[in-house]
Amino acid sequence: MKAFRRLLKRTPVYGVYKALGHRPDYWYWILRGRPARSPHLLKQKTVREYGEKYNLKTLVETGTYYGEMVAAMRGRFDWIYSIEYVAELANRARKKFARYQQIRIFGGDSRVVMPEVLALLTGPALFWLDAGYYGWVGKQGDQQRLSAELEMILSHPYPHIILLDDARGLTGQNGIPSVADVKSYVESKFPQRQVEVQFDILRITRRI
Ligand SMILES: C[S@@+](CC[C@H](N)C(=O)[O-])C[C@H]1O[C@@H](n2cnc3c(N)ncnc32)[C@H](O)[C@@H]1O
Repeated sequence: MKAFRRLLKRTPVYGVYKALGHRPDYWYWILRGRPARSPHLLKQKTVREYGEKYNLKTLVETGTYYGEMVAAMRGRFDWIYSIEYVAELANRARKKFARYQQIRIFGGDSRVVMPEVLALLTGPALFWLDAGYYGWVGKQGDQQRLSAELEMILSHPYPHIILLDDARGLTGQNGIPSVADVKSYVESKFPQRQVEVQFDILRITRRI
């Protein structure tokens, strides 16, 4: 099975194969009593819900990976911009989505590429920050990346909405901020924003 999976990973259909597992994963997660690590289908549902709730037409994602979120949100947003650090994954996603003019895949470190993406925006957008901010093996050591990106997005002229995946990674240990640190930083520096966490997703929205 492992060998088959490894082989499949090299083919363009790997994203589709992964997507086949989303529904069983979701039900397995419910059966296990909704543990902290949430399934991709729930993440898709959350991204969709926030897009609809705040009437956002653009989705910006950090961490394209195999393009599962991009594929799932293709018909839901007018524009999708996704940033991927690993060149092979970025190239693969570019090929996969080449026929969709509304989708752009950017290669590089999200911290470096973010200003280029922000410059394209003409209104508020939904940000899905999912680029393994703490502990992603391919790119360790930049502990400031999350705060740098949050600062850029929240200081931008439009009132963007931010969803950060893997909130459980905000441990408050070894130089990593805790959820409380992020909440107090965001809410004190940007008083129009509020921060909450549900199902392992940290949500930065507008204070009503
Ligand atoms: C958890 S996966 C993303 C899953 C995807 N967002 C989804 O919902 O299907 C994390 C991805 O972030 C990428 N990544 C890690 N560090 C990055 C960085 N500094 N800039 C952009 N992408 C990065 C990894 O290569 C990996 O593809």
